[in-house]
Amino acid sequence: MLKIVIAEESDLPDTARLFARVLREIPYYNALAKEGEAKKYTATTLARKLSEDPYSILVARNGDRKIVGFCISHFDDYTIWVDWYGVDTTRRRNGVGTALLKKTIQTATKRGAHKVWCDTRTINEPSKDLLQKMGFTRLVEIKNHWYGQDFILWERFVDP
Ligand SMILES: CC(C)(COP(=O)(O)OP(=O)(O)OC[C@H]1O[C@@H](n2cnc3c(N)ncnc32)[C@H](O)[C@@H]1OP(=O)(O)O)[C@@H](O)C(=O)NCCC(=O)NCCS
Repeated sequence: MLKIVIAEESDLPDTARLFARVLREIPYYNALAKEGEAKKYTATTLARKLSEDPYSILVARNGDRKIVGFCISHFDDYTIWVDWYGVDTTRRRNGVGTALLKKTIQTATKRGAHKVWCDTRTINEPSKDLLQKMGFTRLVEIKNHWYGQDFILWERFVDP
């Protein structure tokens, strides 16, 4: 059975390994983006995030407790910015991404935030579809932005 939980420190090495695999395989980011993002999400940097905000890393565990997905976010002046989410390639299209985002939205209230927001690459159709399904609204498309790539910004207000 799938469980979405707040990561514990012992989950971070596996989470960092899954992040690295998802990043390596993702077709929407250029080499510069992959190099930059790989440095930002290691077991060490995740531990720092977790110590600053206990809700910042959620993980999805399947029946045998294996980590099959993650959602990394941070408190940003009374909003929650979703940095990254990803699901093991072999476990996709089973509701894991949906469950991770749903739980992240639920944590926003506890963190004193009224809104969750994030970006996607303009060509990341699975992620765009998922965000739309989760009630996110498309704000703007920013061309030639991070790492010289095109992005869309999305927002979702938190239910009161
Ligand atoms: C985006 C991602 C997290 C979705 O995870 P997932 O567990 O497969 O998502 P879900 O099973 O919850 O899918 C929910 C909805 O998202 C959309 N979706 C998911 N995968 C899709 C795909 N390959 N093509 C089109 N729509 C897709 C669908 O609307 C889907 O609902 P449906 O299955 O009822 O049609 C996953 O594809 C992933 O890890 N991608 C690589 C990492 C990434 O792009 N992260 C986002 C950038 S930060």
